[in-house]
Amino acid sequence: MGGTLTRTGLSFQKAKYLGSKSVCGKTVIITGSNTGIGFQTALDLARRNGRVILACRNSRKGEAARNRIIQLTGNQSVVFRHLDVSVMSSIRTFVDVIRMEEKTVDILINNAAVVNWNEAFTEEGLEETFATNYYGPFLLTTLLLDLLKKSPDSRIINVGSIASMGGSVDGDMVRVSRGFSGEEYNDSKLALLLFTKELCRKMECTGTRVMYVHPGTVRSELFRNLPWIFRFIINFIMRPFTKTPEQGAQPVLFCTLDDSVQTGGYYMDCQLYDHTMWVPKSAYDEGLAKKLWETTERVIVNCQTG
Ligand SMILES: NC(=O)c1ccc[n+]([C@@H]2O[C@H](COP(=O)([O-])OP(=O)(O)OC[C@H]3O[C@@H](n4cnc5c(N)ncnc54)[C@H](OP(=O)(O)O)[C@@H]3O)[C@@H](O)[C@H]2O)c1
Repeated sequence: MGGTLTRTGLSFQKAKYLGSKSVCGKTVIITGSNTGIGFQTALDLARRNGRVILACRNSRKGEAARNRIIQLTGNQSVVFRHLDVSVMSSIRTFVDVIRMEEKTVDILINNAAVVNWNEAFTEEGLEETFATNYYGPFLLTTLLLDLLKKSPDSRIINVGSIASMGGSVDGDMVRVSRGFSGEEYNDSKLALLLFTKELCRKMECTGTRVMYVHPGTVRSELFRNLPWIFRFIINFIMRPFTKTPEQGAQPVLFCTLDDSVQTGGYYMDCQLYDHTMWVPKSAYDEGLAKKLWETTERVIVNCQTG
């Protein structure tokens, strides 16, 4: 890793990725890239001359982000494509468009997520936080696997959270219209971690690497649905310990670009954190991961058939 990182201030929080690697000729999909960590990641990869696909649910915001990135980088190969990652039919339509337009996909960054305070369900009957943070990334990734496999050194980056430590996942669970418990964010990020580990096992012997990354605590729009007191604590009281979205993008960029990155790894602060106290033990439960995978496939098929 020598020469590719610098740590400033609170070093455990604010490592900066300094690698100069180009992504010229590579196609990158980033979900939820109109703001926050996703936008900053897209901006950086556009500067590195990638073909960057901004996969966003809001066309106005997606187009505005695209225009801003082109203005800042001069890279004309930045495009917006509509994707609501919480809606399985939207994912299927998005993948059809990608198949028509792209020969390969080299990098997929599952970044979009929500934190909800109130109960909400998607039009397909899925609990919204779980649909956005887990079911959506699962379906999008599995539908794009063949395109990813065509690329040498392709990568899938699942933007997770240290909140997965507070999550619990039961392999039999079916979170369809089951009500809101307030734990969905933690549970969905743990499910995403189990998915990362299981996908890594399934992808063995292919050139595709899959990583899970916690970006740090970032002053983004993520907490917009929480009561103002939470936002006040994160944006003001905790300010010295939190990151800007640009700083939050660094661990994601590290996983996207650095040669040292290990498939299946849990990354934080641009370092491998597997088997530390920050990673829940259940992340290594292969039986649970397999069961969760099967349950997830059933849930997604049910969405298709109504
Ligand atoms: N901020 C933190 O402290 C923190 C900590 C740990 C992990 N993370 C993770 O970092 C990632 C990025 O979060 P952030 O902090 O940058 O949050 P953010 O500023 O709220 O950005 C989230 C992005 O996801 C998009 N999005 C939400 N639901 C979507 C959907 N159904 N379909 C498509 N896009 C959707 C949002 O679009 P709209 O603008 O249209 O809503 C937005 O572009 C997330 O995975 C989050 O869990 C963040």
